[in-house]
Amino acid sequence: MPASPDVDVAIIGAGAAGLATAIFAKRRSPALRVRVLDGARSPGAKILVSGGGRCNVTNVSVTSADFNGGRPAIVKQVLRALPVPATIAFFREIGVTLHEEERGKLFPDSHRARDVLDALVHELGRLGVELRAGHRVAAISRVDEGFAIDTSQGPLSARAIVLATGGLSLPKTGSDGAGYTFAQRLGHTVVPTTPALVPLIVDATAPRQFHARVSGVSQPVHLIVRAGETSIARVDGPLLWTHFGISGPAALDASRHWLRAELEGGAPSLAADLAPGERFETLEARWLDLTRQQPRASIARALATLMPASVADALSSAQALGTDTTLATVTRDTRRALLHAIAAWPIAVTGSRGYSYAEVTAGGIALDEIDPRTMASRCCPGLYLVGEILDVDGRLGGFNFQWAWSTAKVAGDALSLFA
Ligand code: FDA
Repeated sequence: MPASPDVDVAIIGAGAAGLATAIFAKRRSPALRVRVLDGARSPGAKILVSGGGRCNVTNVSVTSADFNGGRPAIVKQVLRALPVPATIAFFREIGVTLHEEERGKLFPDSHRARDVLDALVHELGRLGVELRAGHRVAAISRVDEGFAIDTSQGPLSARAIVLATGGLSLPKTGSDGAGYTFAQRLGHTVVPTTPALVPLIVDATAPRQFHARVSGVSQPVHLIVRAGETSIARVDGPLLWTHFGISGPAALDASRHWLRAELEGGAPSLAADLAPGERFETLEARWLDLTRQQPRASIARALATLMPASVADALSSAQALGTDTTLATVTRDTRRALLHAIAAWPIAVTGSRGYSYAEVTAGGIALDEIDPRTMASRCCPGLYLVGEILDVDGRLGGFNFQWAWSTAKVAGDALSLFA
């Protein structure tokens, strides 16, 4: 380590967390020499693809209950450093005004993720932060009072390092898990990872599975994830049936719970209430009304009052109820069995589409090894960790970016120590 290192702070990773950390650090300490390194030629690719190209920047209501992984008390403390109104104000300051959409999601008024990335990069330039694209970091070592960094463009020395390398989701954007190895070599523990917010694959050969037949159809559901007999998560929202299984908001939100249970050997299972919000008694009363009005209607016709007609058709075939069974001829036991079945329809999940289709990574650097007042490592002085690399994953709705912004604010403020 030279007596005078090349920079005060080297931030590895120019995604949401790395860019925002650099901005907060430079705003707090204008004299701080900050350099952001990214292996990708065009950093920020994940911001560009986020929210269907519109970037769901945050949510009107963010609490620790919206996150999984490390201890909620730590998440809460970090979130307090940059609450939602401060996040909205931050983006307004850099020229991105936000508006609210369904479920409290906040998007840029321009509807362009590109504007979010451009605003962050522009602010970086205005503050005089050096951004080096195409600088892949191969190794980091602790040297004397600082760090030696091997990059694809040569060595660099720094007094402090921020690991903002993301997790394993969508690896083509540059986040391939390298940061976990750096952190482990510097003394950290990695909580085993799984994809999260990821489409799920369903066994088409299992009994009563009809996803492929209704591929492309979406419907509201209530999903219940169980580990053995224990219910571990309940999710409401739209479900999209696909040729391989299930996707859409409800499936994505349920995915981490199923995959974590599988990782932990918990025998996960998934069931869908296909007529969510309806009590058995109400459903049965409606069914009997319909029977009086249209006794010769098919079972699928009755089910189609509760769900998309194509799903109703597929479901009655899966229950072996042919078109010759009418509302008038169906027995009371069959009717009741069917109404119970649609309230807990088994979906035979076998796994996920993997990190290439995941929006985020569950697991990562153990949160207990970070000081939530600074995001400093408790294992290696001078090391800071922000964003998805940590063992925290949010549900769908802007929470993962909020985690990036909040961790960035905490670390950015703390880095003034190195000015
Ligand atoms: P991120 O992965 O963004 O950045 C890490 C950076 O580090 C990359 O640029 C990578 O190139 C760089 N890097 C890695 N290793 C390196 C090395 N060895 N050397 C140099 N550089 C290295 N969230 C949300 O809140 N709202 C949304 O709308 C969406 N939508 C969405 C859609 C899709 C398709 C995906 C995949 C994800 C989302 N997300 C989301 C999740 C959100 O994008 C994610 O949580 C954040 O981008 C994580 O930000 P980070 O900066 O932590 O990692």
